[in-house]
Amino acid sequence: MSDDTRDAAGSRPLPPTGGVEPAGPPSAEQSASEERRQDGRRASERRPTTIRRAIRDELAEEESTDEFYAETHPQEHRVTPVIELDHVYLGFDRPILEDVSIEARKGETICLVGESGTGKSTTLKLILRLLVPDRGNVCIHGEDITNLTFEEALDARQHMGMVFQSAALFDSMSVFENVAYPLREHTALDDDEIEHRVREKLAFVDLDPDQVMGQLPSQLSGGMRKRVGIARGMANNPEIMLYDEPTSGLDPLSTGTITRLIMKLQRELDVTSVVVSHDIRSVFRMATRVAVLNERRIAFFGTPEEMAASDDKYLRDFLGGS
Ligand SMILES: Nc1ncnc2c1ncn2[C@@H]1O[C@H](COP(=O)(O)OP(=O)(O)OP(=O)(O)O)[C@@H](O)[C@H]1O
Ligand SMILES: [Mg+2]
Repeated sequence: MSDDTRDAAGSRPLPPTGGVEPAGPPSAEQSASEERRQDGRRASERRPTTIRRAIRDELAEEESTDEFYAETHPQEHRVTPVIELDHVYLGFDRPILEDVSIEARKGETICLVGESGTGKSTTLKLILRLLVPDRGNVCIHGEDITNLTFEEALDARQHMGMVFQSAALFDSMSVFENVAYPLREHTALDDDEIEHRVREKLAFVDLDPDQVMGQLPSQLSGGMRKRVGIARGMANNPEIMLYDEPTSGLDPLSTGTITRLIMKLQRELDVTSVVVSHDIRSVFRMATRVAVLNERRIAFFGTPEEMAASDDKYLRDFLGGS
């Protein structure tokens, strides 16, 4: 863990940057869209692609997460965000993130999307304080975590549950021991309390504790392994959950199960989450807001409804073109 931890003092200056990237001149396609808008409807409404249509149908079918959130947290916009990246810059051998600002309020599910290598996992590591920014601040409950000591950072991390891309279970340990691991490491719970907690978390992720506790990860399906990963991530009852591609490599049914679980954590436990995902349909189901990373910057940060309605060329291409 400490291998990954960088010292802010070791940061390198990054090339000068401006503000939000300026929009280029309108393309022929954009001009055509303007024409199509003259009948009073947005171009995106006139020519929805299959994916965009599916997204809209899905949003219309059930109460969307952002609507649910607005109803259940009417005053939340006045409260200090639980997670805030404020004008963050980070580079390794080259700049990765430039002027990145996103926030997650209590009980929100922020989905972070973007092409491969744009810095999504890096952003999660900044929140976990496994990395520190070259410039800018990362705040949890309004407190800047950039200058925490190693011990303080460990303590801050106890309030966060991380679900890794590959589930990252310990192969030689049983499911029980995997979920119990963070409890043994970071709490003073006795054996009975640990077993009670492990059973509770496995049941929450819809696994039968009696059936799976003694099994090894290799005996489980990919979807079940992901669920065990979530049970382990939430074992400490964290108020923040971070997921790195929780549905990658899963079939559509298992993807739906994991998406519902993440929504369940939000709706029943009011957990604040950041979910990195490539699966745009599950993003639209579970996100209160979506952040899109493109070319080191936040290209969009808003609700799924706003994203689906956007005429921005990059967003439209990202959602399947039009
Ligand atoms: N410790 C590191 N040292 C040097 N470069 C790194 C390090 N970690 C990440 N990078 C680089 O930073 C960039 C962003 O990496 P990151 O893993 O955050 O991307 P990502 O958006 O999560 O991609 P993917 O969708 O493929 O998982 C990549 O070019 C990666 O090679
Ligand atoms: Mg990644």
